[in-house]
Amino acid sequence: MTFYILTLFPEMIGQALHTSIIGKAQERGLLCIRTVNIRDYTKDKHQKTDDYPYGGGAGMVMQAQPIYDAYLAVTEQIGYRPRTIYLTPQGPTFTQTAAKEFAAEENLIFLCGHYEGVDERVLEEIVTDYISIGDYVLTGGELPAMVMVDAISRMVPGVLTNEASGASESFEGSLLEYPQYSRPKEWNGKKVPDVLMSGDHRKIEAWRREKSILRTKQYRPDLLGKADLTVREKAVYGAYDLDIKRKR
Ligand code: ADE
Repeated sequence: MTFYILTLFPEMIGQALHTSIIGKAQERGLLCIRTVNIRDYTKDKHQKTDDYPYGGGAGMVMQAQPIYDAYLAVTEQIGYRPRTIYLTPQGPTFTQTAAKEFAAEENLIFLCGHYEGVDERVLEEIVTDYISIGDYVLTGGELPAMVMVDAISRMVPGVLTNEASGASESFEGSLLEYPQYSRPKEWNGKKVPDVLMSGDHRKIEAWRREKSILRTKQYRPDLLGKADLTVREKAVYGAYDLDIKRKR
């Protein structure tokens, strides 16, 4: 899968996507992340890519021409117009479900805005998906694009070498992940739960499922309504009283 990131700040994309799992997946040829510098496509003699907003107001607006030409350079290279995402707090919030859906694409283009915004006409021309990564405002679309590339990449078959870890993680079936433990058996006076060392896989599975449900109920009750709980689980955990508060 190839990601094309249209940006005025290609240096921001750098290392974050070249290390760890995503970096290895690129080395293995599963993923390709290409940054496209919008400034390289400006026809302005001073290399300008922004201008004052018509109608007045604060800040500058990214102009249509350099963005459109950067976009065309990509689409001409790949031979079609792939889904093109504009990162904006005005879009619907990115979710794990959306990450999985985007992972099925062969190519994706991200447009990173800056300043006060982007000329609406080029958005109308090229954007297929407006997406926010949460209800807060960042200075530009680069960090949201990196967040999305990371989350989508993990869902591309073969990127997670341990296939199972994609299936049992948070949000799978609208439940949060159960707690994990590793060596030593006792640390800082805290013991690993006995069941995890019992070797009884059915019991371990049941314990993990219970923890997932209880955690979701405690920390993200908004998700629980969407979770695939059995009738029995609904009866048992619906009545559970949670008085433990997360330590801050
Ligand atoms: N650009 C600025 N803030 C953003 C956000 N929250 N999500 C996506 N793009 C953004």
